[in-house]
Amino acid sequence: GETWVLMKTAQTPTNIAVIKYWGKRDESLILPVNDSISVTLDPAHLCTTTTVAVSPVFQQDRMWLNGKEISLSGGRFQSCLREIRRRASEVEDKEKGVKIEKKDWEKLHVHIASYNNFPTAAGLASSAAGFACLVFALAKLMNVKEDESQLSAIARQGSGSACRSLFGGFVKWIMGKEEDGSDSVAVQLVDEKHWDDLFIVIAVVSSRQKETSSTSGMRESVETSLLLQHRAKEVVPKRILKMEEAIKNHSFESFAQLTCADSNQFHAVCLDTCPPIFYMNDTSHRIISYVEKWNRSEGSPQVAYTFDAGPNAVLIARNRKAAAQLLQRLLFYFPPKSDIDLDSYVIGDKSILQ
Ligand code: PMV
Repeated sequence: GETWVLMKTAQTPTNIAVIKYWGKRDESLILPVNDSISVTLDPAHLCTTTTVAVSPVFQQDRMWLNGKEISLSGGRFQSCLREIRRRASEVEDKEKGVKIEKKDWEKLHVHIASYNNFPTAAGLASSAAGFACLVFALAKLMNVKEDESQLSAIARQGSGSACRSLFGGFVKWIMGKEEDGSDSVAVQLVDEKHWDDLFIVIAVVSSRQKETSSTSGMRESVETSLLLQHRAKEVVPKRILKMEEAIKNHSFESFAQLTCADSNQFHAVCLDTCPPIFYMNDTSHRIISYVEKWNRSEGSPQVAYTFDAGPNAVLIARNRKAAAQLLQRLLFYFPPKSDIDLDSYVIGDKSILQ
């Protein structure tokens, strides 16, 4: 039989929400209860690289993550594979003498190899980069002729936050109104050049895997938290508008105030969930206190903090100088190899550390 292989590789950075997504109105399609806004990180620091291959000799779809085979049987992988296959079109490689018709894609199997350049499950949104990259690489391989927003609706079915990683810069995930999720897509607000003096430092408080997955955490919050209802209806819609203004105008003061308030409200929703969910720990709380105190003493905010479903702090400094001061302070409060539970693992421009 035939023995050819066709391959494509894609690289996708992770993203960090500054207005959080927390709560699904539809669990299987992954439709959120509110809009969210994120910033996509520089691919040099936190990204996934995925190579996808197709060959008539492959007997089944298979995937390896960081060199270890993982199961593709989960509904989320199956949704992404199905939706991409459905949109596949003809592919021709004259050099290899290969022609794949649209209908052939149903029978052909793919092999997927994915690598994260950061510790998986360190609470650093690895699923966001992972599913975005998987969908993007498969779309290239199968010659899917859809734009990033349409692809984002497919990545969304792998992991909600993944839909925002198909764009750089600041990205909004619009919750949408349709029942089929066709209008629940990500759009780029501004590209990565628009506000390029921002500087992101991540303090890895603990690289242990989180205890409550975002999926079960969200489900419990939706079922039990009244604060979540209030947040989704009354708070987030107004915050989204203000955040879009702040980003457009490079207003760091408003940006920092909204980012910190939204992170704190997300963790308040977690605490309002029954049984309560604790993602932050004492070290996270200490970082918040230090940043709040410093911002107050400067008269205007220098650094914004935000925490996802884990204890690690994502710190967004207004510029390089503020980031350098932040790192100095972090190293002072959490000296390397001290007994404090901070891996003192920071990501940013290496030159600042030297
Ligand atoms: O997409 P998920 O299931 O990993 O959920 C992400 C949830 C948060 O990271 C806490 C918030 C967000 O908007 O990314």
